[in-house]
Amino acid sequence: MANEDLYALVRTIADYPKPGIQFRDITTLLLDGRGFGLAIERMAAAVGPAPDLVAGVEARGFIFGAALAHRLGCGMVLLRKSNKLPGRVTGINYALEYGQDRLEMHSDAVTPEQRVLLVDDLIATGGTALAGVDLLRGAGAVVSGASFVIDLPDLGGAERLRRAGVAVSALLEYA
Ligand code: PRP
Ligand code: ADE
Repeated sequence: MANEDLYALVRTIADYPKPGIQFRDITTLLLDGRGFGLAIERMAAAVGPAPDLVAGVEARGFIFGAALAHRLGCGMVLLRKSNKLPGRVTGINYALEYGQDRLEMHSDAVTPEQRVLLVDDLIATGGTALAGVDLLRGAGAVVSGASFVIDLPDLGGAERLRRAGVAVSALLEYA
């Protein structure tokens, strides 16, 4: 199986944070320096021409986003949860697999036509990633793709993103 080495490093915790959720925990992958490096190399290999910026989604998307931005030689814009950014922000509310949340971005972070790659650890329903895409497009950016470590295809998020015109890549799938 492709990426079998990485599957072996992701831990599944049943019934977190709510009964019925199989939580795919990447903290065990991060503990393994070689595995973390391989994940970043393989995410980079799936990216076409380097974007101008990586957009990382708080919180776990910051970890993979920052490492990938460094690997691709580009800068990074932070998509943060409510009331964390000090400057003027634009924001959007969205639904999660297990709740509600809000993403915000500095209004002046992205200039029109910049090519931005959205990065997160995992896509489930796609609510978070689509909120990020809407924020970036609202600022005039071109979302050149979206890159994840994990896709939960049964929750339909990657398909929703593709229907929104975003090229999606993920290293691991849990059906
Ligand atoms: C998780 C994950 C993604 C999002 C995916 O983050 O890191 O950002 O959920 O779910 P979706 O596709 O259904 O929107 P979470 O909101 O748990 O925040 P965290 O990274 O701060 O733990
Ligand atoms: N974010 C949304 N759904 C998740 C899951 N099943 N495991 C880890 N993070 C998640």
